[in-house]
Amino acid sequence: MASSTLTSPLWLSRSAFLLKTSLLPSGTRALTRGFTGPRQPPTSFSPLSLKPSFKHLSAIPSASGILAQKSSDLERSFAREDVVILGIETSCDDTAAAVVRGNGEILSQVVSSQADLLSRYGGVAPKMAEEAHSLVIDQVVQQTLDNANLTEKNLSAVAVTIGPGLSLCLRVGVCKARRIAGNFSLPIIGIHHMEAHALVARLVEKDLQFPFLALLISGGHNLLILAHGLGHYVQLGTTIDDAIGEAYDKTARWLGLDMRKGGGPALEELAREGDANSIKFSIPMRQHKDCNFSYAGLKTQVRMAIESKILSIENNSISSTSSQERRFRADIAASFQRVAVLHLEERCERAIEWAMKIEPSVKCLVVSGGVASNQYVRTRLNHVVEKNGLQLVCPPPSLCTDNGVMVAWTGIEHFLCGRFDPPPRADEPEDSMFDLRPRWPLGEEHSQGKSEARSLKRARAELMRQFSPSSP
Ligand code: KG4
Ligand code: ZN
Repeated sequence: MASSTLTSPLWLSRSAFLLKTSLLPSGTRALTRGFTGPRQPPTSFSPLSLKPSFKHLSAIPSASGILAQKSSDLERSFAREDVVILGIETSCDDTAAAVVRGNGEILSQVVSSQADLLSRYGGVAPKMAEEAHSLVIDQVVQQTLDNANLTEKNLSAVAVTIGPGLSLCLRVGVCKARRIAGNFSLPIIGIHHMEAHALVARLVEKDLQFPFLALLISGGHNLLILAHGLGHYVQLGTTIDDAIGEAYDKTARWLGLDMRKGGGPALEELAREGDANSIKFSIPMRQHKDCNFSYAGLKTQVRMAIESKILSIENNSISSTSSQERRFRADIAASFQRVAVLHLEERCERAIEWAMKIEPSVKCLVVSGGVASNQYVRTRLNHVVEKNGLQLVCPPPSLCTDNGVMVAWTGIEHFLCGRFDPPPRADEPEDSMFDLRPRWPLGEEHSQGKSEARSLKRARAELMRQFSPSSP
């Protein structure tokens, strides 16, 4: 296990996860119901000064001992196999849970998807998504425990996504996790959703050591990260507007695809029928020699191409079109995918160059997040990685899309380093205010990316001008 940096932002802020509700010294901060806004500065207390009592943890030393112990000591003091963590994920449109053992054995996992809602409403409507999570969360967690033949009493801790994501949705998972942790005196670990996408690669590939490079591609994020160590990340690039998953979803919708299987998978399937060179979309941000991304302009180009041939982009299901029309849509799908992925390839090439200068010992590029389950994406990025003498680590598709395993596993990684919060009070009120982090950067920005990022506003304006339908 790689060593950790106790002063890293993720560590400090993670340990503040519990403070909002029960451990803040009285009078330190008034708790407002429903508050999900700015956080308590995490540096305002030392987690090591907390000495809660853990009644239940037989396999590990007493809690005060854990919190005061060095991570390496902690890991040595009990077998990894004895650690069993429940992970809960509700940051977006999937309600997911899993139980994972410290050695990476997945004991069970359940995912309940809101695909039907998504296809009906064309995107995630926060209030409806929250209701959908609330409806199934108890069942999903119970099923997960049942499938593992375990009860809450067998758990070492509960890990739950606290951000980034939709606060209404995050809250459902956090409430459930805290109820379990409170009732069974279990430590609780607040998880960063994108960190979990990256770290699940270490469950899949046991030899994957820090430092490594990670491309995280999902519905809401496009991140290029240099992972120096657990909780110690540097952001080389991010998107200046939309994430690639959003572009896949919108394109799929405009092409009239069946969104019940998810926009990305539906588009990937149709693209196999098309000619990827038939429509010449331009590649985003070529003039910006950095590792940032942009997909808004490509989306606009696609929309214009569709509208030039198809009268309406509403109510135009592909199932009721002629074969010629289907061919046209497949050509758009394939051409879009080629350029969307070429943009990833170019940014990864540069990120590898940057990473090798910062950390010459980097050997792997991890590609994870929902879009990483795409076969075309995997094949193309594999070429880039091989060309540069690195290795591609891509979790299986079921661990690329949102899942509870990645949350449980990231919980294990932090738990074994002594990074967790003590159990909440069992009588914690349901309407307590929790530390949710709808926007939560993963690590600091790399200076080279940052200087470019300052001109991102201008870049965005330029792109909008370039691709706006009214421009000449
Ligand atoms: O990580 P994820 O499951 O949820 C978020 O954190 O957003 O990613 C979901 C995104 C969606 O935009 C979905 O369409 C996309 O991943 N996706 C795909 C594929 N499978 C899922 N995109 C392209 N090809 C796929 N096969
Ligand atoms: Zn995700």
